[in-house]
Amino acid sequence: MSEPAVHTPRVFSGVQPSGALHLGNYLGALVKFVALQNRMECLYCVVDMHAITQPQDPRLLAAQTREIAAAYFAAGVDPEKAIVFAQSAVPEHAELAWIFNCVARLGWLDRMTQFKEKTGKNKERASVGLYTYPVLQAADILLYRATHVPVGEDQKQHLELTRDIAAKFNNDFAAPDFFPLPEALIEGPGARVMSLRDGRTKMSKSDPSDQSRINLLDDAETIAAKVRRARTDAEPLPESPEGLKDRPEADNLVGLYAALSGETPAQVLQRFAGKGFAVFKPELADLMVERLAPVSDRMRRLMADPAEIDRALARGAERARALAAPILAETKRRVGYLQT
Ligand code: AMP
Ligand code: TRP
Repeated sequence: MSEPAVHTPRVFSGVQPSGALHLGNYLGALVKFVALQNRMECLYCVVDMHAITQPQDPRLLAAQTREIAAAYFAAGVDPEKAIVFAQSAVPEHAELAWIFNCVARLGWLDRMTQFKEKTGKNKERASVGLYTYPVLQAADILLYRATHVPVGEDQKQHLELTRDIAAKFNNDFAAPDFFPLPEALIEGPGARVMSLRDGRTKMSKSDPSDQSRINLLDDAETIAAKVRRARTDAEPLPESPEGLKDRPEADNLVGLYAALSGETPAQVLQRFAGKGFAVFKPELADLMVERLAPVSDRMRRLMADPAEIDRALARGAERARALAAPILAETKRRVGYLQT
């Protein structure tokens, strides 16, 4: 196989099965996955190899992997169109990651802010896997020569590293254009959903407070209660988005309303200008329930039949391996491995 001069558009993205999915994952990732599947060839992976970079209960990991797959399908990802699979079912990811571990430089990884955020002062006790996590992510993407990667804003730096690895491989192995330099698709109203308890930190699976996030499987009462208790300020809503500056909590709630209703924040504010949160919050909660209830209902129905999910994932892994095999084989040839 020779290097394609121009790469065919192809989408790759992944979500870790490391806890319950939340509204940030839904808006930052799943909604975009669905929109892209009609326009390009898409691969959506459940990245269980990434999940074990931090401690996981082995009794839960498989169930969580199925749960993420169920969330993909429930959000509207169509297994006939997109390739949906579990990362560990395609060992080529680990093989390419090793080669990329030898391409990436320590200095590049030392700059990764997510590693620093996840480890804090406890760096010495972090797994080596957590450190080299972004290299595995680069392998995920480049194993399929993916050109577009829909993710939330927190993944921007990992995508820059992916491009650096692709460029260095192409350069070191005299193969210009062998790997594409993939682009992050971050734009969109839900690219950075913030915690309901603190408008300056992102909504996250790992936040110790469940009140900080809306989980995809929360019921209507729980959603309403979390929105009611969400932190806000005492001011009424402003007339335009400029008035949300320095009001991170208000900005987040208006942004969520806009993302869920398909309006712009300016349009939302036109309707709610001058009104207080006592009026706005119940409307936001209703909208959330209206949008999320059908997704969580479908998710629960799918999870009731784990064998069916496993069949869909097995089929996806087969299709993924067929795409990956020739690209990995050519990569190994370029590295100089003996061809068998
Ligand atoms: P993770 O839960 O870290 O595996 O993230 C899965 C996907 O959801 C990635 O594309 C993230 O960028 C995205 N994501 C996670 N948290 C948020 C958030 N608070 N706002 C927007 N996107 C998010
Ligand atoms: N690091 C991503 C996250 O935490 C998950 C991920 C792993 C991913 N491999 C990927 C995302 C490849 C996009 C492409 O959200």
